[in-house]
Amino acid sequence: MTVRHFLSTQDYSRAEIDALLDQAAEFKRSPQGQQLAGKSIALLFFNSSMRTRTSFELGAFQLGGHAVVLSPGKDAWPIEFEVGAVMDGETEEHIAEVARVLSRYVDMIGVRAFPKFVDWSVDRQDKVLAAFAQYATVPVINLETITHPCQELAHALALKEHLGDLQNRKYVLTWTYHPKPLNTAVANSALLIATKMGMDVTLLCPTPEYVLDQRYMDFAEANARENGGSLRVSHDIESAYRDAHVVYAKSWGAIPYFGRWDEEKAIRDAHRHFIVDEAKMALTDHGLFSHCLPLRRNIKATDAVMDSPACIAIDEAENRLHVQKAVMASLISQSSGAPSGLGF
Ligand code: CP
Repeated sequence: MTVRHFLSTQDYSRAEIDALLDQAAEFKRSPQGQQLAGKSIALLFFNSSMRTRTSFELGAFQLGGHAVVLSPGKDAWPIEFEVGAVMDGETEEHIAEVARVLSRYVDMIGVRAFPKFVDWSVDRQDKVLAAFAQYATVPVINLETITHPCQELAHALALKEHLGDLQNRKYVLTWTYHPKPLNTAVANSALLIATKMGMDVTLLCPTPEYVLDQRYMDFAEANARENGGSLRVSHDIESAYRDAHVVYAKSWGAIPYFGRWDEEKAIRDAHRHFIVDEAKMALTDHGLFSHCLPLRRNIKATDAVMDSPACIAIDEAENRLHVQKAVMASLISQSSGAPSGLGF
């Protein structure tokens, strides 16, 4: 039987995403279940986490399952995947063995690997996740790499809860200043899910260098065509915010400067005014604001915005728990051949 993973929402149809969101809403109404009874998940964190770790561990527990959390290089052996690569210090393991051994112990594997603390290129993050999917014989879940699909589902569920039908709602993904470079994962993901839901999406960023990786722009264009929405790029704050229904903020590094942060710093420093504040939110059509968290207050968004009724970031964070339970339950039912009740 072919193993189905949850690596990207691009691997799932709109109908499948809607079914997962419906199941998540059901778990929100009725949190306890036995869908994971006797099942387990290994959660590998190459990077820090608060929300992802807590919500996956609790989600597995609430459905009768068990989670084992590992931090390679900290409480587990460092992991290497390039054949012949030599690391200084402790013995490293190849992903082939890690994925195969874990597949004998657990029923699912979650992997977080984005380059905040590890010196991995953008391309390499995809390879780490792809290598786990290649060698594992159980479903692999993306806990954030070059995209963050679990965050996408939580975001979409929160938007549906507050707005109902999302078709052709005006959605702004705005770049915000951050003193340190961060990866583009959540920004890529915001474009993917907003276009998947048929929204009219504006990517607002300071200069053309901050437009996202072409792969994700292309995916978003295709999603918009398929789902009756649209995608445009803007560098004009006022027109982007005007009449928006949703403002989603994220900081990310400019792709041409990736890893050359000192060169990028001058551009970044000149655009601190991209902060989400009350004056910009006043341009929207009673717009909602959200962010994946963690967020530096008064750098990316002001206290006034974060503490306003328009801010649904806490709802979105809560929804991580519910959507991930839906993902785990659906992967387990698909890998066991049992009907998922989701239509796939
Ligand atoms: N949004 C998110 O993934 O949060 P953590 O980094 O705390 O897991």
